[in-house]
Amino acid sequence: MILWTRLTGLSRPVEVHWQMAEDDRFARVVRQGAVRAQPAWAHSVHVKVEGLRPATDYFYRFRSGGELSPAGRTRTAPGPASTQPVRFAAANCQRFEHGWYTAYRHLADERPDVVFHLGDYIYEYGRPAHGVRRVDPADETTTLAGYRARYARYKSDPDLQAAHAAAPWVPTWDDHEVMDNYQGRGDGSDRFLRRRAAAYQAYYEHMPLRVRPRDGGLQMYRRRTYGAIADFMVLDVRQYRGAGTMLGAEQESWLLARMAVTPVRWRVLVQPLFFTRRFVPGPPPNLRKDSWDGRPEQRARLLAAVPQNLVVLSGDVHNAWAGDIVTGTGQTVGAEFVGSAISSNPPVTDGPGVLAANPHLRYFDAHRGYLSGTASATDFRVAFRGVDFVDRKGAPVRTLAEFVTEGRGIRRVDV
Ligand SMILES: [Fe+2]
Repeated sequence: MILWTRLTGLSRPVEVHWQMAEDDRFARVVRQGAVRAQPAWAHSVHVKVEGLRPATDYFYRFRSGGELSPAGRTRTAPGPASTQPVRFAAANCQRFEHGWYTAYRHLADERPDVVFHLGDYIYEYGRPAHGVRRVDPADETTTLAGYRARYARYKSDPDLQAAHAAAPWVPTWDDHEVMDNYQGRGDGSDRFLRRRAAAYQAYYEHMPLRVRPRDGGLQMYRRRTYGAIADFMVLDVRQYRGAGTMLGAEQESWLLARMAVTPVRWRVLVQPLFFTRRFVPGPPPNLRKDSWDGRPEQRARLLAAVPQNLVVLSGDVHNAWAGDIVTGTGQTVGAEFVGSAISSNPPVTDGPGVLAANPHLRYFDAHRGYLSGTASATDFRVAFRGVDFVDRKGAPVRTLAEFVTEGRGIRRVDV
C-alpha cells in the first residue's frame, strides 16, 4: 500500500511521521515510521507499506511539527485464491470551475474496496470568465509550478479529500493532466516535452503512485488483481500513443500476455476512452479519432485475445453510456460502462440518435455522477449513480440505472 500526503507552504526538507493502525482510533498501530518530505518533490510523501494482511481495512495518518493530519482508511486486496466479491467505484472528469464535487461525497459514503480514477483529474485550461467556482492559478498550466498549484487548488476540495480518505485509489490519466488531446511526444519539441515532464512529475507528486517519473516519462500501466475475481488492467492511452497505436507496442504486449493467461473471472480494462464503436449520425467525421475508433486495428487485436468476460470502464465523453462489446465477427465478448463526469459539463449530444445508430449501445444518460460496481464469481454489476445538479452544493445521489453481465452482453436490472 502507498500512503500519500503532501505538505505545502514549506521551503526546506521536513520530517513527516506516519502511522498505520487496525482501528480508526489508532489504538492498535501495526506500522509506523518517518520520512523526509523534499522540496524537489513538492514535499509530497509516498510511504510504501508492505506485509499487510489481505482483504483488511487499515487506517493511517501523518504528523509533522505540531500538525496531525486527518485519518484515512484504506483496504488491501484479497489473496490470490479469494472468491470474495470486490466493490469498486470509478470516477473521472472533474473540472473544478464547472461544479461542486458532491458526487465524491456520496462515493466516499459507499466506502468501496477500491476507487479507480479514469482521467481528467485536473484540467489545464486558464480560468474562464464565468464559472461555478474560481479555479487557480488563473493562467493555463504549462510549468511545474503551475501544475502543482492547480493540483493544490483541486485537492483543497473537502469532498474530493473525503473520497481519497475513504478508500485506496488507483488512478490513470487522460489528456487534461497535460494538455487537451495531446498524443505521445506531441510535436516532439523540447518545449512540449518539458511541459509533459512537468505535468507527469506533478501528477506523481499528487497521487499514491509507487513509481517515480524518470527521464521525462512515468510508468503508469499496471495490474491490480483482486483474488480469483478481477484483473483490473490500468492502461495509459496517452504517453505511448502514435499513428495506429493507442498503447504503444510494449504496453500492448504486456496487456495481451496477461489477458491470455489470467486465471481470474473478469478482465477489466480501466482506461479513459470510449472503447466500442460509436457512430455519430450527421455530418462527418462520424467516428471520433481521439477515442478507440481512431485506433481500430489495435482494438481488434485486444478483442481477438479475449473470448469473453471482458469489462471496459471508461470516461472522457462527459455523458454516461453502457453497451455490449461485439467483435468484428459478431461475437459478444463483454460489456463497456462509460462514466459521465464528476463535474465537467457535457457536450451537446443526441443520445437517442446515437443509440439508434449503434445497436450494441444500450444506455445513455446526461447526469453528472460516477460508477459503483461489484465484481463477483457469478456476475459483474454496475450502477450509474447520478446527481441532479453541481452548480450548488448538496445534491442527493440516486441510482439512475443498473446493469449486470455474466460475461457476454449486459442486462438492465430494475432499481
Ligand atoms: Fe474530461
